[in-house]
Amino acid sequence: MKPLVVALAKGRLSDSAMELLCRAGVVPDDLASAIKKRSRRLIFESRERGIGFFMAKPSDVPTYVEYGAADIGIAGKDALLESGRNLYEMLDLGFGSCRMIVAGREASRELVARGNNFRVATKYPRIALDYFVRRKQQSVEIIKLGGSVELAPIVGLSDVIVDIVETGGTLRENGLVVLEEIAPISARMVVNRASMKIEHARIVELIKMIKAVLGKNECDE
Ligand code: PRP
Repeated sequence: MKPLVVALAKGRLSDSAMELLCRAGVVPDDLASAIKKRSRRLIFESRERGIGFFMAKPSDVPTYVEYGAADIGIAGKDALLESGRNLYEMLDLGFGSCRMIVAGREASRELVARGNNFRVATKYPRIALDYFVRRKQQSVEIIKLGGSVELAPIVGLSDVIVDIVETGGTLRENGLVVLEEIAPISARMVVNRASMKIEHARIVELIKMIKAVLGKNECDE
């Protein structure tokens, strides 16, 4: 039988994702400890459970799932929104909670609320564009950065940023504040659209096992 393949986001979500999959009985303990050793190995398989895993950059997980290289993906809602990929979002896994926000100096509040032609630095250009242009009908210039976006308003690259905030520590330490809320973010389980039909029974069973440890009822989602 072909194993069900799961793409897991590397980084801040990976430990919680693995812990959840172990508790649900989806991943055997020996495989989980091999994955936790953080070797350079990228692919893991449990023949007896008919399941395989690979670790990918969070922003690449939706791509692997949409193209069917993985049947299932676990990634943050931020990566899913930014990818715009056509996937079934099946479960909110309840960890990795944070918020997608607009932040900047307090003095930029009015500009962001009602202004136009300001600059927005972000790792999430699609989310930023969707928020300002489509939802708020403002005209903005989006500047794509790779990380440490809090720097941008401090050094004068942009007026504001669109980013995720978890504890708020990075904003506080840099004299920035949350100006607007865009969306709540957490880890989600997504499924390839064709796999959902072809492997329906196995995927539904796996979702049931995960829901059982999350304490969700069948009708919750
Ligand atoms: C994320 C995010 C913020 C920070 C927020 O960055 O982009 O910079 O975490 O967390 P906090 O509210 O708890 O301070 P990450 O650590 O992923 O690194 P990066 O900025 O290099 O992308």
